[in-house]
Amino acid sequence: MANSAAPNPAVAHRSNRLSGTIRIPGDKSISHRALMFGGLAGGETRITGLLEGEDVLATGRAMQAMGARVIREEGVWTVTGVGNGCLLQPEAPLDFGNAGTGVRLTMGLVGPYNFEAIFTGDASLSARPMGRVLDPLRQMGVQVSAAEGDRLPVTLFGPPIAAPIRYRVPMPSAQVKSAVLLAGLNAPGITTVIEPVMTRDHTEKMLAGFGAQLQVETDAAGVRTIELQGQGPLEGQAIDVPGDPSSTAFPLVAALLVPDSSVVIENVLMNPTRTGLIATLIEMGGAIDIVNPRISGGEDVADLHVRSSELKAVTVPPDRAPSMIDEYPALAVAAAFAEGETVMDGLEELRIKESDRLAAVTAGLKANGVDCTEGKASLSVRGVPGGRGLGSSHPAGVVKTHLDHRIAMAFIIMGLATEHPVTVDDSAMIATSFPEFIDMMTGLGARIELTRKAA
Ligand code: S3P
Repeated sequence: MANSAAPNPAVAHRSNRLSGTIRIPGDKSISHRALMFGGLAGGETRITGLLEGEDVLATGRAMQAMGARVIREEGVWTVTGVGNGCLLQPEAPLDFGNAGTGVRLTMGLVGPYNFEAIFTGDASLSARPMGRVLDPLRQMGVQVSAAEGDRLPVTLFGPPIAAPIRYRVPMPSAQVKSAVLLAGLNAPGITTVIEPVMTRDHTEKMLAGFGAQLQVETDAAGVRTIELQGQGPLEGQAIDVPGDPSSTAFPLVAALLVPDSSVVIENVLMNPTRTGLIATLIEMGGAIDIVNPRISGGEDVADLHVRSSELKAVTVPPDRAPSMIDEYPALAVAAAFAEGETVMDGLEELRIKESDRLAAVTAGLKANGVDCTEGKASLSVRGVPGGRGLGSSHPAGVVKTHLDHRIAMAFIIMGLATEHPVTVDDSAMIATSFPEFIDMMTGLGARIELTRKAA
């Protein structure tokens, strides 16, 4: 596993010009769900464009351990599912590595089954809270045994018949919403999820595509009520996974920051629940042309043409956070080069990602000379256009990544535009979400040195 491999520090140097056309690997959220729903549905699911990152592969292995057949041939993944309600008891603990989405959604999927299943993960995942998913499962009658603070390892044992619930998601979290809906697939009657703030809707869209009986209503205040009829059949589908907007964030910000750049990023998922960063960067003055917008596999997709830009600071509305929750590390780096003070608020969820991202971003920025202030759920960054004086050749400047792929990628991008280099203590875990990242960036002209060649 990439995240248990020896650390691989990386040094990013000021680069002259990024240019070229790239195609970002498949969306992580959709890739997890494609393997999961394909493994659950009856018949065959054919997946093209799957993200072959460690996180997603762990989900594939978990579905295999519960009876699905998962085969890769010439870049196409074929999953033969067991049929809804027919997962087999896994013989060994399911190890999800670094993957919060993988473990939380699978706990929802498997929780109501009347057998024992054990869930484990790496040091980062084992420090993350699982109570947000375990609480609704308990309400459905699932017995839970977990490490202190509802953390991994977790053992679930479902009741003979799970109780469908009506659940109001207490925090903006697509993982929690999805876990409850997936648990509802194996409970009789209707499971209802109320979502006060809309988050990414891939579970709803994809489950409907697989044939689940599911209805979504949105009231005047934007509160969504999702009703799912349990125990219905699901049927295999053909899925073409669009490029991940969260991975796109890094070359996108890099192309804005490195002078004289012109980069085309093809096939980017433009689902409105995922485009907060693009909207914010355009507000900051970023030259981002959205080219050839189209619908592919039921999702909005487009190509992005990005050119270097002089960015201006903005205040990011807190209600935009759910549509860019994974993109704040990249945005904070962009803000470090923008004229004025960029203010980001409503960031409480950042504290419990693969690392405490708010603390990790602040520490990394400060270590490299950026003037910024961390609040309880906010970050203000006072930028230096041109990056003069930023970066560091000093050991104190090394960015601690805390097993967090997005911290590693954000600071590598930063070092492409700072006066001095930026060093990250590890880049190996980038393989969890974007294995091609270093090669793709160096192919565009980025100067990145690795202690050893990327896996
Ligand atoms: C995801 C939901 C988000 C996001 C994660 C992927 C998903 O997590 O940060 O990377 O695929 O449902 P939360 O639900 O914790 O916000």
